[in-house]
Amino acid sequence: MSTLKIFVATMYGGSLDVAEQVKPLFEDVGYAVTIHEQPTLEDLAEPSAALALFCISTTGSGDYPGNFAALARDIAEQGPDLSHLRYGLIALGDSSYGDTFCGAGRALDALLEEHGAVRLGERLEVDAMETFMADDEAVPWVEAWIAEQELSRT
Ligand SMILES: Cc1cc2nc3c(=O)[nH]c(=O)nc-3n(C[C@H](O)[C@H](O)[C@H](O)COP(=O)(O)O)c2cc1C
Repeated sequence: MSTLKIFVATMYGGSLDVAEQVKPLFEDVGYAVTIHEQPTLEDLAEPSAALALFCISTTGSGDYPGNFAALARDIAEQGPDLSHLRYGLIALGDSSYGDTFCGAGRALDALLEEHGAVRLGERLEVDAMETFMADDEAVPWVEAWIAEQELSRT
């Protein structure tokens, strides 16, 4: 069975909620899905992590949430080859923070690309100023992503 890893970066649980809501959409099309709440470089770098979805919020001034900071640092410092990795990215943020809107999601996207990973489709940016429940945007986006990227295994 094909596997999908969902990597979560969250402070208050919004990104984890998105991960939990979209998980069954992948299971319905034939994936074994794991959600990583304390993601490590090992989780990301192993060859079986061929397909991943990142659900990532921003804190501080464009900073990574605490549960994700070590992984982002390890990628930057250890320079792993991530060319096996295809991924989607859902960034949660708040446009009232101005220039740092979705800063962690954008920084992660650039970091993954720098290390050879390939994003499938466009990045989704959910703005808390416009969308109260991030799931309302994330669920249809994932449905479309599965169809557009032909990820269905059933
Ligand atoms: C202390 C704090 C700092 C934040 N800084 C930013 C920021 O720099 N850029 C941004 O887009 N959103 C920022 N946000 C908004 C959060 O990213 C947004 O509310 C997100 O939905 C929270 O997701 P979570 O429930 O997964 O933690 C900040 C929120 C808090 C509480």
